[in-house]
Amino acid sequence: MAAATPSTTDSAGIYFNPWDENFRANPYPHYKPLFDGPPRIINLVMDMALVARYADVRAVLLDHANFSSAQLATTGFEEQNNLLGQDPSMLVADPPVHTRLRRLVSRDFTPRRIRELEPRIREIAAQLVDGAERKGSLDVMADVANTLPVMVIAEMLGVPPEMYQTFKHWSDKIVEADNVLPGMPMPDDIKLAMSELREFFSRQLESRRGRPGPDLVSALVAAHEQSEALSAGELLAFVILLLLAGNETTTNLIGNGMLALGRHLDQMALLRQKPELMPGAIDEMLRYDGPVQSTFRTATCDTNVGGTDIKAGTGVFVMVAAANRDPAHFPDPDKFDITRDPNDHLAFGEGIHFCLGSGLARVEGSIAIATMLERFPRLRLANPEAPLKYKGSYFLRGLAHLEMAID
Ligand code: HEM
Repeated sequence: MAAATPSTTDSAGIYFNPWDENFRANPYPHYKPLFDGPPRIINLVMDMALVARYADVRAVLLDHANFSSAQLATTGFEEQNNLLGQDPSMLVADPPVHTRLRRLVSRDFTPRRIRELEPRIREIAAQLVDGAERKGSLDVMADVANTLPVMVIAEMLGVPPEMYQTFKHWSDKIVEADNVLPGMPMPDDIKLAMSELREFFSRQLESRRGRPGPDLVSALVAAHEQSEALSAGELLAFVILLLLAGNETTTNLIGNGMLALGRHLDQMALLRQKPELMPGAIDEMLRYDGPVQSTFRTATCDTNVGGTDIKAGTGVFVMVAAANRDPAHFPDPDKFDITRDPNDHLAFGEGIHFCLGSGLARVEGSIAIATMLERFPRLRLANPEAPLKYKGSYFLRGLAHLEMAID
């Protein structure tokens, strides 16, 4: 595999290799040269564009006509695409399909609906933190971050909460698919996780027909049965998207956010002193070290971004995490400052695909982090000098473990 690993260091000193563990461990220094000029075209198995500057990233995200979310199949990611089935989820659909799919589910993500979930999220967070307190040690990932979002999604979908460990396993495996080089075969264990997940949800959907409950899956089944507005395949694709998008990302907001606080104890102290700063702190965590490093588009026609010509069919890395460190947009971008204002980061994307679950993610992140800060007054990194291990996806950046001392 290593021999086939594409990598690039061009004459301007740009190195971009999502399949390199060291690059993934800290991509931020590699973004800096990208701010000095227009987007670069690099050869990663085939020509791809790297879009990193804030203004360019925003422009691409807003231009869904010229930059498709649907056409992954032309850019070497066929295996990743096929894994998710033939029917697109909204994340990888363009209008009008995207518009129809998004409209059907938006009502389950309104601020009111999310407020209704809050008490349950607090309960789950308290239980998880109790567990860490009882054993006298805290691995933020294993004890809290890996579990809270998947339990919340399981409840929203109306599936048994004890399934959450199996969900987590499936979702971890599927995220690993990002690490498979374009054009390479998908490992069997990843394919197996995907087929088990699809089969599980097919059965869940079947069991809701004629016996609906108060959950999101039942509401979607009803939409499918009443109007055919949602095909059976689309319904399955959406449920799977929710499990993946709503799970790994929020997990990593909690992990990356706690790491940032652990490395900036003055900011942690400030947040303890003024808990009302939490919403701004969450935004700064999302900007400074967001869970999503990049999203992906395909140019639908010959076009130009920020001075670089991009040919029809070219794949585009739309690097939201780089944009969030662009010095042309954020003063002192490498500083972690929970009082930063304004903070119009792009961690949740922009335009028609703006994250559907952003409100839920904010609530889950705030509650999880506040619960840990309240419970453990001496919270700090257990081994500040120890190297950190990241999970195997460039697109979704998150720690495998984060040990913190609580004594
Ligand atoms: C901190 C946590 C999260 C981050 C950083 C995040 C980030 C993002 C980003 C960047 C996009 C846009 C992708 C693109 O334009 O290609 C997106 C879309 C999406 N997110 Fe999130 N997300 C988070 C949590 C969630 C949660 C909790 C849910 C649901 C429970 C969710 C559901 C979705 C869905 C359904 C889309 C597709 C929206 C569309 O295509 O119209 N996300 N998210």
